[in-house]
Amino acid sequence: MQLKLGLIGFPIKHSLSPWIHNQFLDKSGIKGTYSIMEISPDDSFEQELERMKENGIDGFNVTVPYKKQIINYLDDLDKNAEIIGAVNTVVCKNGKWVGYNTDGIGYVIALRNKFPEIFRDKTNRILIIGAGGAAYGIYYGLKSEGFTQIDIANRTHSSAKAIAILGDNNVETSILTLDEAHESINSYNLIIQTTSVGMKPNTEDTIIPIKSLNQKSVVSDIIYQPLNTKFLMDAKKTGASIHYGHTMLLYQAQYAFELWTNKKMPIDNMDQQLKTILE
Ligand code: ATR
Repeated sequence: MQLKLGLIGFPIKHSLSPWIHNQFLDKSGIKGTYSIMEISPDDSFEQELERMKENGIDGFNVTVPYKKQIINYLDDLDKNAEIIGAVNTVVCKNGKWVGYNTDGIGYVIALRNKFPEIFRDKTNRILIIGAGGAAYGIYYGLKSEGFTQIDIANRTHSSAKAIAILGDNNVETSILTLDEAHESINSYNLIIQTTSVGMKPNTEDTIIPIKSLNQKSVVSDIIYQPLNTKFLMDAKKTGASIHYGHTMLLYQAQYAFELWTNKKMPIDNMDQQLKTILE
């Protein structure tokens, strides 16, 4: 039997997920396919999902703009996805579709692999810049790890406030303006850029100009196209450590593949390969 996997979203023609999951399939020895199933906003979302059901899909990833919309078509929702309010992975088993969110967990695992020392002190001060879909998963993922000080800076105050009330309230969170974040940036041990600013090719756009940083801080950008965002490159110049965005992509995929197959595939040198593709 062939495992039928895929990705829905729009636009997704250039997605790297098939590259990742086809390697996982190869490594696991499982026979299967991972296909791009682009659903344009002009298509009927419901009809496309019906068609996938008829074709006997075993599991799929969901990306923009459907991470919230898909929830209306699921039979069940994992607690993590329910709290975050978005689904990026669906497991289809015994006629039931169950939604998960592996983005935040993927981010946390990628970060821990590279910078385990951050996780040794849960009082480390964390700043998340941005309050879109990705920030929800990352905030909740870090909160679930037991970090106690996670601030959020965003252009729109109300969106940041909505994140700060996710889950049980065991975290101290201040909501900052982007200017305030700029002024206090060297007081953070970990800074995570989650906005879409800096995503255009060859852009000099950056959400917060970085001039100086605490040398011991880690600066992370979840953008991976381009890989070398101005935000990360400015951080690198100050001597801080940097954490690239493509690792989140790999580890959220690893966890999604595990949900579909019960097999945790090693990342091996995929991290370096993907970096080379993106550079
Ligand atoms: P998503 O689809 O994941 O929700 P999004 O709507 O593209 O993502 O926005 C992601 C983040 O980028 C948000 O924090 C957004 O800020 P607002 O909440 O104020 O909209 C931020 N963002 C996008 N463009 C921006 C810009 N030009 N300046 C500042 N922040 C920006």
